[in-house]
Amino acid sequence: MTTDVSRFIDVDRGEIQGEIFHSAEIYEQELERVWARSWVFLAHDSMIPKRGDFIQTYIGEDPVVVVRQRDGGVKAFLNQCRHRGMRICRADRGNAKAFMCSFHGWVYDTAGNLIEVPHEETAYRPEVFDKSDWGPRPVARLESYRGFWFGTWDAEAPSLTDYLGDMAWYFDAHFDRYASGFEAIAVHKWVIGANWKLNAEQPSSDMYHGDVTHVSAKQVMGIGPTPDREGHQFSGTFGHGTGWWDVGGNTRRASVGDAWLADHREEVVERVGERRADGVRGHANIFPNFMFLHNGTIRVTHPRGPDEFEVWAWTMVPADAPAELKEEIRVKVLRTFSPGGLFEQDDAENWVEEQRIMRGYMARRSPLVYTMRMGEARRDQHGLPGLTVDHPYADEGSRGMYRHYLDLMMSPTWADVIERKRERDEPVTARPLDKNGVSR
Ligand code: FES
Ligand code: FE
Repeated sequence: MTTDVSRFIDVDRGEIQGEIFHSAEIYEQELERVWARSWVFLAHDSMIPKRGDFIQTYIGEDPVVVVRQRDGGVKAFLNQCRHRGMRICRADRGNAKAFMCSFHGWVYDTAGNLIEVPHEETAYRPEVFDKSDWGPRPVARLESYRGFWFGTWDAEAPSLTDYLGDMAWYFDAHFDRYASGFEAIAVHKWVIGANWKLNAEQPSSDMYHGDVTHVSAKQVMGIGPTPDREGHQFSGTFGHGTGWWDVGGNTRRASVGDAWLADHREEVVERVGERRADGVRGHANIFPNFMFLHNGTIRVTHPRGPDEFEVWAWTMVPADAPAELKEEIRVKVLRTFSPGGLFEQDDAENWVEEQRIMRGYMARRSPLVYTMRMGEARRDQHGLPGLTVDHPYADEGSRGMYRHYLDLMMSPTWADVIERKRERDEPVTARPLDKNGVSR
């Protein structure tokens, strides 16, 4: 039995009912149709640099271990022992030669093979048990983009490249700046009592809340109200979104890294072009749950029922930057977008309060308005790839996110998802893009 979620989401009218944030049935359907199908960020190269390095994470509610292999490759598998279903690896991260389940002692190697079973010869007859059949379930597809590893349980999913589509161009503005790449430091993990989508739609779309939600934080930090200047919002075929103010409005403070940044400016322009060297970086979400901001924070959210999610956040720093610059970036993120960060706390309060209100029957059956700048989006305008709107105060990113969410929730297979997009004439394959964007 599946729920017809289109009763609660009307993207063409720009109306959504809060039932989708509250319902346990819808949440169960999401585990299957969103989480067991989407490409989900698992790890960055710098989190598992050496062979045997591993990190534990999740795809939805399913625990996953990601391990650097002897040959430099990466494997990922369900962190579940095939004997009675216990967690195989219980450490958050580390380096291992093998993983021993702490229940009865079955041992798995780092490639995900079952290699040892206590009392195997006496307890299991060979005709009913062959160890090689019982490795943990592998993540069906694992692909990396610029050192960021994503995995999906669905072998039929489009390639990661197609899934990212034009979003890759916006991602590169953040993470393709230096030949030496980026490094993940300073992980923080915390829990928020709200539905994961209330959070995900924000970096896809909502810059509109800044001046009100964050007014006191901005005052404390000496930042005035946001002047109404140029900016844009992008919405991708597979639910991704980003928004940013064009260059010129942010208060630029002196940095200990100024000399290093100036030295590397040419490299950045060479790699991503003038425009993305200075702008096209704001907040962003790669659907469903991989978010990044211009200040260097990246995070994944792991859903924990309809009314809770965990945030796992890292700070990304240029790998070759001097230690003082890395430290400066770390502290800036800590003060703004960590569990104790001024902005982060403001945001969480909204989501938690929205979630509480959705307990009410009338509250979750009253349509909410997602019509901001509806009808204004155009494809490939002003050199910007994909569907964009000429202002970051818009709901285009959210509408795109829920359009894709609905495609997933209404479709039994990936082929059906793609078919729905084709019927709307949406591009479903990636195209090569110039560093300066698209020309018309
Ligand atoms: Fe893992 Fe028994 S549950 S060894
Ligand atoms: Fe915010």
